[in-house]
Amino acid sequence: MAPQTHTAAVLVDKDTHSFTFEQRATPTPGPNDILIEVHALALNPIDYMQRDRGFPAIDYPSIVGSDIGGIVVAVGSAVPSSYPQPGTRVTAFAPSFYEKGKPDYGAFQKYACVWKEMVTAIPENMGLVEASTLGMATYTAMNGIYTAGLPLDGRYTATDKKALLIWGGSASVGASMVQVARIMGITTYVTASAKNHGFLKTLGASRLFDYKDADVVQQIVAAASEDGLVLKHAYDAAGGTRQILDVLKEFKDGQEPVLASAPASIFKPDSPREPGVAVKFVKCPDEPTERSKHFDYIGQIWLKEKLASGEYGVGSKVELVEGGFESLDKALDTLRAGVSGTKLVIQV
Ligand SMILES: NC(=O)c1ccc[n+]([C@@H]2O[C@H](COP(=O)([O-])OP(=O)(O)OC[C@H]3O[C@@H](n4cnc5c(N)ncnc54)[C@H](OP(=O)(O)O)[C@@H]3O)[C@@H](O)[C@H]2O)c1
Repeated sequence: MAPQTHTAAVLVDKDTHSFTFEQRATPTPGPNDILIEVHALALNPIDYMQRDRGFPAIDYPSIVGSDIGGIVVAVGSAVPSSYPQPGTRVTAFAPSFYEKGKPDYGAFQKYACVWKEMVTAIPENMGLVEASTLGMATYTAMNGIYTAGLPLDGRYTATDKKALLIWGGSASVGASMVQVARIMGITTYVTASAKNHGFLKTLGASRLFDYKDADVVQQIVAAASEDGLVLKHAYDAAGGTRQILDVLKEFKDGQEPVLASAPASIFKPDSPREPGVAVKFVKCPDEPTERSKHFDYIGQIWLKEKLASGEYGVGSKVELVEGGFESLDKALDTLRAGVSGTKLVIQV
């Protein structure tokens, strides 16, 4: 049973760039929502962007935050019994972005509502801290597959010669894509600092490159050619637009190459473009029914199965930040300053 009120970290208005800690009424989950007792929160760049700039747009007062490891306490009246039920340990991707920071749906509180599609039971051997790191990373990687125009349930063999360039493999959304691509049977060309190549190899990266090498573009083009592969798809987890386009332009014959970019920097007026190469922002389907089906596939089929089989798991190294909700501002400042192959998590 959830208490009547609980602690929440609130963004009170657009001019206050830090969290205010309040007691708020614990919501009753809507018909298609699941109420979760939050035990661990993983942090993402969108959290400090919304705190600092109110972008992506939120309505105030707002509760933001996306990544939860927790326990189901109640389910909405229309949630079928096949979805996680009270008492189930879960990873959850709170729909704060899609609900524009509407308070019931933000992760940064002790009890949060999450759309049923995005609540996934975790295996017994997984802790709630680890579980908290999965939501944003997994859904963004799968949205990247969708944005690149590939089927989410695609399975390829060597004869299909499917290849993907992943720029920023050690970013949290990059490390998830390395795993997703490995599971799909896609050969990956992955960039990261050399110190992160070891863990990316264990996640299944096929070929690794240091993006700081002056000739990294030539190295990648040469490696793909050596492997007899054509790079028609790229996923950017780190803002490497120019270099990615320089790789893809070498593979323009036939089908148009696609860059699926997670960073929103592609919307800047001076963001580079290349004739004959499509540049798309990573997102899910816009149409609500299609979106719900898409999330349902990710949360209730793909992620559930892959966690249970052990094929997929935590990508980045987990670093715990002490201090509960009160440490949110400081932890987000640390994230904004830059992390390397690391996911920051707060226990609450
Ligand atoms: N579109 C969406 O739905 C969506 C969803 C989630 C995130 N995002 C965006 O995706 C981006 C990544 O988010 P995140 O949480 O994964 O970030 P993160 O984990 O904080 O990213 C840190 C990593 O970025 C790598 N990096 C930095 N500059 C790089 C460069 N020039 N080339 C290659 N790698 C570089 C670093 O690699 P090394 O330490 O190895 O150098 C580091 O490991 C952010 O811009 C975020 O806003 C978008």
